[in-house]
Amino acid sequence: GAASKGNYRHYMLKEIFEQPDVISAALEGRLSDSSVLVESFGPDAQALFQSTRQVHIIACGTSYHAGLVARYWLERYAGVPVQVEVASEYRYRHPVVPEGTLFVTLSQSGETADTLAALRFAKTLSYIGSLAICNVPGSSLVRESDMSLMTRAGPEIGVASTKAFTTQLVALMLLTLSVSKAKGQPEQQDIVTALGALPALCQQVLVLDSQIETLSQAFAEKHHALFLGRGAHYPIALEGALKLKEISYIHAEAYPAGELKHGPLALVDSEMPVISVAPNDDLLEKLKSNLQEVRARGGQLFVFADERVGISEQDDVRVLTLPHVHEALAPLLYTLPLQLLSYHVAVLKGTDVDQPRNLAKSVTVE
Ligand code: G6P
Repeated sequence: GAASKGNYRHYMLKEIFEQPDVISAALEGRLSDSSVLVESFGPDAQALFQSTRQVHIIACGTSYHAGLVARYWLERYAGVPVQVEVASEYRYRHPVVPEGTLFVTLSQSGETADTLAALRFAKTLSYIGSLAICNVPGSSLVRESDMSLMTRAGPEIGVASTKAFTTQLVALMLLTLSVSKAKGQPEQQDIVTALGALPALCQQVLVLDSQIETLSQAFAEKHHALFLGRGAHYPIALEGALKLKEISYIHAEAYPAGELKHGPLALVDSEMPVISVAPNDDLLEKLKSNLQEVRARGGQLFVFADERVGISEQDDVRVLTLPHVHEALAPLLYTLPLQLLSYHVAVLKGTDVDQPRNLAKSVTVE
């Protein structure tokens, strides 16, 4: 059936390898040749997005990390201010809701207790509407929201979320393009084209699996790891650290690379692997100098880098080269090698990859 492991050793690995297909599914029928189809979000979307002046995004866990990426996207490509918050915090404070604010929840299951409670609370406030981006049609979150968009990742069995996250990112880029279009802003045709090419690019990254498996050997004996990213790749670093924690039980933290000297640099020595994502964006030069700071303290660097950035392999720097991708979509592509890295480290450590200790797939109680 849909939820069998096939030839894969674990559901998580199968789900990682399904990403090219489910990303295609998430795009299916939602783009024309050069434009996003706003009505994918429902008949009221055009009017609602046109009047959207702010967005509040609420989620938990991995879904929260997708929300953090969306903040960079909605502000940069749609010009709309965004706040992102974990549901368990949001629901117990007294949020101020400016006029014209759209409430968005992100959830794989649509049943996470805190996210659902946040939606119910939000409905008592003065939002212009609620949108659920969710993987389970008919879930409580979908039923109780004004609008919904399904991520179409299919059943996700591994507790550590993989394909649900990348399809959420696809949905959030569709949201970004749709809000921008509804507001009459110029079309982002280059991003639409790049989205169409994304499944094939993901396939190219998955081919790196055996190289990543080799890299993973350097982590099996480690007790800590530090993930660095800048801009929209800071949330990707957070997600990489979360994956490593969840399934390999290695303590991992993520920092925006620019914060390195405000604390975490004190932890860097030869026992602390530092993982960094280095797409070819306008923050590359700044990231490179952060990486030098790590090397100068004897840290072991692992860099996932765009083929064009010219970071070279050295004794203390291992480089894994990724195909060039449109800057807007790099967070999606750079998620994949981090998923594979945590998977292989967990396999080496012999943990229960699909059912990590103490964790549940869906947290339906507070
Ligand atoms: C649990 C799962 C995570 C997931 C989070 C939010 O902690 O183990 O993988 O990201 O819940 O779940 P949701 O279904 O709302 O996305």
